[in-house]
Amino acid sequence: MRIAIIGTGFIAREMIEAIQAYGEEFEVVTVYNRTLEKAEQFAKDYQIAHVSRSYEEALTQAIDGVYLAVHSNDHYSMTKQAIQAGKHVLCEKPAVLNQREFDELANLARTEQVIWMDAMRFIHLPLWKEIKHSIHNEEIGEIVYVEGSLGRISQRLYRHTRELAGGVLYDLAIYPLYAIIDLLGKPVVIQSQGVLLESGVDHTVSIQLQYRHALAHVMASCVSQTQTHLRIQGTKATIFVPKEFTTSPFFEILYPDGTKVQREVECLGSGMIYELRSFASGETQQNLSKDVYEILTLSRTQLGIHYPSELV
Ligand SMILES: NC(=O)c1ccc[n+]([C@@H]2O[C@H](COP(=O)([O-])OP(=O)(O)OC[C@H]3O[C@@H](n4cnc5c(N)ncnc54)[C@H](OP(=O)(O)O)[C@@H]3O)[C@@H](O)[C@H]2O)c1
Repeated sequence: MRIAIIGTGFIAREMIEAIQAYGEEFEVVTVYNRTLEKAEQFAKDYQIAHVSRSYEEALTQAIDGVYLAVHSNDHYSMTKQAIQAGKHVLCEKPAVLNQREFDELANLARTEQVIWMDAMRFIHLPLWKEIKHSIHNEEIGEIVYVEGSLGRISQRLYRHTRELAGGVLYDLAIYPLYAIIDLLGKPVVIQSQGVLLESGVDHTVSIQLQYRHALAHVMASCVSQTQTHLRIQGTKATIFVPKEFTTSPFFEILYPDGTKVQREVECLGSGMIYELRSFASGETQQNLSKDVYEILTLSRTQLGIHYPSELV
């Protein structure tokens, strides 16, 4: 697959490094950044032959798709532009800012017959597939409670403004929410509480999800370092993913008698290559994403946050 990389910041560097280490089937044809010098530096650092001077120029190159790694406020409009140009789109999370944007882009992608998905690395990892496999094999019994927590002190300013669609819900809480909804589906009841910065975006959130036979809870903060983990409690045992659960190389199964089994799971580098392969093969998990963005939209309404760039 021939792709263009759009945006050359932190996550774009992780992606190109994953491609160069493990992605022989991918060719990066061009790179574009709104700051030309940064695109030129990126091209030099990673030996990319072509630098585009505009997004339009990138979209007219001989590419099959784009990897969109710009800030969240531009995801919807730049995805729409790429789909209208007939290109597949792998977009960084959050792929959209609300359900309306999701539905519109999903319809457009269907009409144009292109693949569109968000780069939710975690759900494409072998670790997550192995966890789901263990649950499917009834190793932990019926799930009764899931808890996901993520907390980092983030200095990155784009995460703290409404203009750049910042806030911890879309930056960090989205990961455990994806995991919970992948396991349990849409909740019957959701209750979100948040503490907002003066800028009007959330810095700490607590989200309770109630299911007919289970409960779930998400805690995320971008102003405090917390012990990041994912805990899936079943009637027979508990799956526990310690530390950075989004990139952990292992998980544990904890039994009621106090014994513990650790399962190592192979992961290539940062794990970015798996989402890219899913993208190329069209494994978009679109139904899951639709539910996640619907829940995120509801949660954000409960938090009382609005983004100037979002489609209303
Ligand atoms: N999946 C993950 O694990 C993960 C991790 C981190 C971030 N993300 C997501 O990835 C996105 C980028 O995050 P980041 O940490 O990489 O940010 P970053 O380091 O600030 O990089 C963003 C890049 O996009 C460029 N850019 C912004 N708007 C643009 C536009 N309209 N046209 C062209 N280029 C534009 C910026 O250019 P300038 O340098 O000129 O400003 C910068 O190069 C965010 O949406 C974030 O939520 C995902």
